[in-house]
Amino acid sequence: MKKALILGIESSCDDTAAAIISGRKILSNITNTQLIHASHGGVVPELAGRAHMENMVRIVDMALDKAQIQLNDLDAIAFTVGPGLQVSLVVGTSFAKGLALALHKPMIAVHHMKAHILSHFIEEEGMVAPSFPYLCLTVSGGHTQLVVVHSALEMEIIGKTIDDAAGEAFDKTAKMLGFSYPGGPLIDAHSKNGNPHAFLFSKPKIKGLDFSFSGLKTSVLYTLQAATKENPDFIAQNRNDLCASIQESISSILMDKLKKAQQATGIKHIAVSGGVSVNSGLRKKLFAWQEAQPDISVHLAHPKYCTDNGAMVAITGSLYFDEGSFADQSVAADARLQW
Ligand code: KG4
Ligand code: ZN
Repeated sequence: MKKALILGIESSCDDTAAAIISGRKILSNITNTQLIHASHGGVVPELAGRAHMENMVRIVDMALDKAQIQLNDLDAIAFTVGPGLQVSLVVGTSFAKGLALALHKPMIAVHHMKAHILSHFIEEEGMVAPSFPYLCLTVSGGHTQLVVVHSALEMEIIGKTIDDAAGEAFDKTAKMLGFSYPGGPLIDAHSKNGNPHAFLFSKPKIKGLDFSFSGLKTSVLYTLQAATKENPDFIAQNRNDLCASIQESISSILMDKLKKAQQATGIKHIAVSGGVSVNSGLRKKLFAWQEAQPDISVHLAHPKYCTDNGAMVAITGSLYFDEGSFADQSVAADARLQW
């Protein structure tokens, strides 16, 4: 049987991305990360929307060229419909709708977080797809969730953050240390030369499977305020240790709840998705857990499929295509798209 050729378009935040998939194999995966936001300390929606408009056609063209296919070869067009920034989502959604109409091809509307969760099904060396049902810790800039994935179409949230997302906790504490946006990768890089136990920040006491990061954020802020009063160069002199200790705190909070969820559900297949799943401190803890508990299997995607990308939308499109799950022209971008 001919494998479906699908274009995946992602534009929910500050990455304009497109990928082509054939069945479960990625033929091309192009991302343009907007650098204009770095100096603003966070994503500026109006700037993001404009940059998506400027870049979308070029990025899709590059994805088609790299995959060596023509628009007419496509079997379907998948796109992120939400959640995310409305002005950003509208660009990808309108583009996909226009393309589908002009080409007379079916459309597949994709939930951004579900795309992160299904990224594990991309066929690639070094990646092993989890079996259903699997437990997925989804950690990004906007979301932190524990999800039981029964099938490509059926997912159940069993835990979520009650305040900030894990990526937000990284980015906000990084900002306190003077890093530009997004600070998560910078904290990770500096942690490599720091002592993770140099500073102890407060741990949340949230019952059940929900997360909280606001206490940690306040704890870091108070520590920095008190220390810089005594020594104005405190941050510069302790940057690596501060980064390593923040990373240790965030990854411990995530691991505690993930382990708790594993025990509560008894599910043996564990996956971790989203931008924060690239974090080396978190990955180290996941590998250690896998080693200590060989009856579970931990699945991590290649880093290029963890932060926002078109490939995760394309693989979701491919799985939905097989299930016959299509959208029609009435579909609209939805910043607050529900599960
Ligand atoms: O999944 P993603 O690319 O976009 C959203 O859907 O939000 O996640 C972005 C988040 C940002 O908060 C970024 O700082 C964080 O992922 N991130 C990291 C690392 N790489 C990206 N956080 C910690 N360590 C990293 N290596
Ligand atoms: Zn994302």
